[in-house]
Amino acid sequence: MRIGWIGCGRHAGEMLLPQLTRYDIRLAALCDIDAANRARIGARYGVPEAARFADAQAMLDAGGLDAVGMAVGPTQHRDFAVAALRRGLHVFMEKPAGASAEDARAIAAAARDAERHVVVGFMKRFSTANRIAINHARGFAHRASFLGEYMTAPTYFTGDPDYTGFYLHHCVHYLDLVPHLMGRPLEIRARRHELSPGRLLLHVDFRFDGGGLGTLVMGTHQSRATPMEWWQVMGDHERVEVRNVHEVRLHRAPKFKVGAPDAALTDGEDTLVWEPNLTVAANEDHKGYHAILGAWLDLIAGRSRPDAPTIADGVAAMAALDAMQRSVESGEPVAP
Ligand SMILES: NC(=O)c1ccc[n+]([C@@H]2O[C@H](COP(=O)([O-])OP(=O)(O)OC[C@H]3O[C@@H](n4cnc5c(N)ncnc54)[C@H](O)[C@@H]3O)[C@@H](O)[C@H]2O)c1
Repeated sequence: MRIGWIGCGRHAGEMLLPQLTRYDIRLAALCDIDAANRARIGARYGVPEAARFADAQAMLDAGGLDAVGMAVGPTQHRDFAVAALRRGLHVFMEKPAGASAEDARAIAAAARDAERHVVVGFMKRFSTANRIAINHARGFAHRASFLGEYMTAPTYFTGDPDYTGFYLHHCVHYLDLVPHLMGRPLEIRARRHELSPGRLLLHVDFRFDGGGLGTLVMGTHQSRATPMEWWQVMGDHERVEVRNVHEVRLHRAPKFKVGAPDAALTDGEDTLVWEPNLTVAANEDHKGYHAILGAWLDLIAGRSRPDAPTIADGVAAMAALDAMQRSVESGEPVAP
């Protein structure tokens, strides 16, 4: 598998390429407009000078690739994905899938025409703890409600007073994860509270196909040195929660323990808890980057991966994001 990579910045260098290169692939070419990033990543992975490009079109024109990965930015994802698909290449793109739902639809159309796979980097589906909890939640007889929070700090968004970066780079993750858990949102309503410029709080309410309700809190007023994520799905006498992407609790319908001399924990009734053992001497990636890249490679190899976020999921997330933003402005519920 000969892979070309576009965008050798922080996220590719720290997270994606270290995980991608654990698979049996060859990083055959790379591209970045920044010469220092290009040189550093090229040297790290032994990409020959002749296969390091400043221009993505030139990399694609040079040929010799089976697939392309990218972590650049919203409009570049649209342009480079469409260009790669027109050359018959499979695509992995970091989120967001363009700067708008229209951009995501343009990528989806190109993927359909080319009959190639596009996976969008919604790796929150693949975090080990999330995956465990998703599998339980999806097994509930009723998925009655979602409650969660996904916070960040104002540092990323200073100088960006319209919060476009917050919406496109941060919020979009949960506009994939929440429907993945709860089903299609029929209606989204967002309420906003701006503590001060750059410090925005959103309470986003959902009504899902199937009757479930959801509330998601997102904001830019918490320290990134603290845990940023918590969510819970409630069914009927069962609920599953994930704290900080690493602790899962599955509550069911146990007996009261007080006054029971034989009180004990019972299989199938009492609460189950899972956490990873962080002392295992293996390169385990519980955040989900290794797993999502593996799902992409599986799809390319013709293996079924219904859990993979495709460009159809990218379109749905961008449509939900658009509905959320319109509701932030109007205060009214909006159908995605
Ligand atoms: N899923 C996640 O957890 C996660 C985390 C961080 C970032 N991301 C996403 O990854 C993407 C990149 O983020 P980042 O933090 O690495 O940003 P970054 O600025 O560090 O990296 C982007 C790189 O793209 C290069 N670039 C810009 N325009 C280019 C062009 N026209 N052609 C080729 N290269 C170009 C830049 O020089 C830079 O090296 C964003 O879309 C972001 O949302 C995802």
